[in-house]
Amino acid sequence: MDSILIRGGVRLSGRVVVSGAKNAALPAIAAALLTGDEVTISGVPALDDVDTMCELLDSLGVSVSITPGRVRLRAPRAAAKQAPYDLVRRMRASFLVAGPLLARFGAARMPMPGGCAIGSRPINLHLKAFAAMGADLATGNGYIEAVAPAAGLRGARVYLDYPSVGATENAMMAAVLADGITIIENAAQEPEVVDLANLLAAMGAKVRGAGTAVIKIEGVDELHGAAHTIIPDRIEAGTYMAAAAITGGDVIIDNVVPEHLAATMSKLREAGAVIETQGSSLRVSASGDLQPLDIKTMPYPGFPTDLQAQFMALLSIARGTSIITETVFENRFMHVDELTRMGAKIKIDGRSAVVEGVEALSGAPVRATDLRAGAALVVAALASRGETEIFGVGHIDRGYEAIERKLGALGAVIERRTDARESLAAGAGAS
Ligand code: UD1
Repeated sequence: MDSILIRGGVRLSGRVVVSGAKNAALPAIAAALLTGDEVTISGVPALDDVDTMCELLDSLGVSVSITPGRVRLRAPRAAAKQAPYDLVRRMRASFLVAGPLLARFGAARMPMPGGCAIGSRPINLHLKAFAAMGADLATGNGYIEAVAPAAGLRGARVYLDYPSVGATENAMMAAVLADGITIIENAAQEPEVVDLANLLAAMGAKVRGAGTAVIKIEGVDELHGAAHTIIPDRIEAGTYMAAAAITGGDVIIDNVVPEHLAATMSKLREAGAVIETQGSSLRVSASGDLQPLDIKTMPYPGFPTDLQAQFMALLSIARGTSIITETVFENRFMHVDELTRMGAKIKIDGRSAVVEGVEALSGAPVRATDLRAGAALVVAALASRGETEIFGVGHIDRGYEAIERKLGALGAVIERRTDARESLAAGAGAS
């Protein structure tokens, strides 16, 4: 079982390059099901979640070829319509194949996604969109089956009760081949939704309004192949921004779209960090005390839930009391107990966490319970006194490419252990 060992207290400095966005890569790979031509996705990060999505497409009969940073996909004329249980269980985003399967092959049979560490995460809105387009839905034996009418899905007005990212993406992919016009109201406005719309447009789809709350799609008879480069990962960038700030460091972060990080930059500046942007790079420096913040997670362009845990780590050593309110997911405070083990003073009150800044954190053995909780522990460990050993590294590998190499290049004393009994390598301090 791997662990990550970090000896804290080094001010990070240097440059780090952000990888392509996991959350843009996953729907882009699923979108390849919509055509029989080759779809090439570039800027794809080497992550466990990307491997899982490729495995899923492979299991559906898609030919998948992976080279560093690039995935080439070609879907057959008739794909399997049933997604394997173990892959869907491993990754919720697997449900993103349902829209394309239904649109192009007329049916999708998906295992019901189970509960998840960060909340119940239902799929009712995805299903509502499919039903509005004429799909018949049936559940049984742990599966959901959606079947399109014989003449195919019909364009429809789809109102999402909540601007769900996944439901917006699934509705878009179902609508691009439907007969007529689909209007998605209260759509998610995340940059990853816009990136998917750009890929679909490159494949010949007629999509307007992505990035706003109303997306209009005019169905076409068929889509063709395309080559697409995905956007940088704003959550990975935000994680390195938090890491730079908590260590009082000075870091240049390359391959970012600063506009995607507006809420993050605004909050980090309020905490006292200095941020300069230049083209697709930004520089984060911090010295002196961090100020406490009030943060409320919201759908984009609000503060991202995927950075809530990392900012909680940061605020655990701010000079004062912060309040963090999680509005997107229930139970997304799994990292609190572990941060507390490192000396943080955090109390949960319903959907809010009250974080009373302490002088310093201290290294401890801790466990990542989910992807972003793991990232928060890395951020905390970088600024802690002594050593932190983080277990449950599999969660971190789902979403961070080469995290120990990237942080090591910034001066962090960080090492991946494959044998828990090994001691911190003598040379690690020089990295
Ligand atoms: C995506 C991101 C994830 C991020 C989240 C919110 C991917 C692969 N993952 O997840 O990293 O944390 O957006 O920014 O892109 N909901 C329903 N019914 C539904 C669907 C969602 O009630 O049918 C609820 C969820 O339980 C949750 C909220 O809506 O409380 C947001 O979920 P959603 O935007 O769908 O997140 P994902 O697409 O799963």
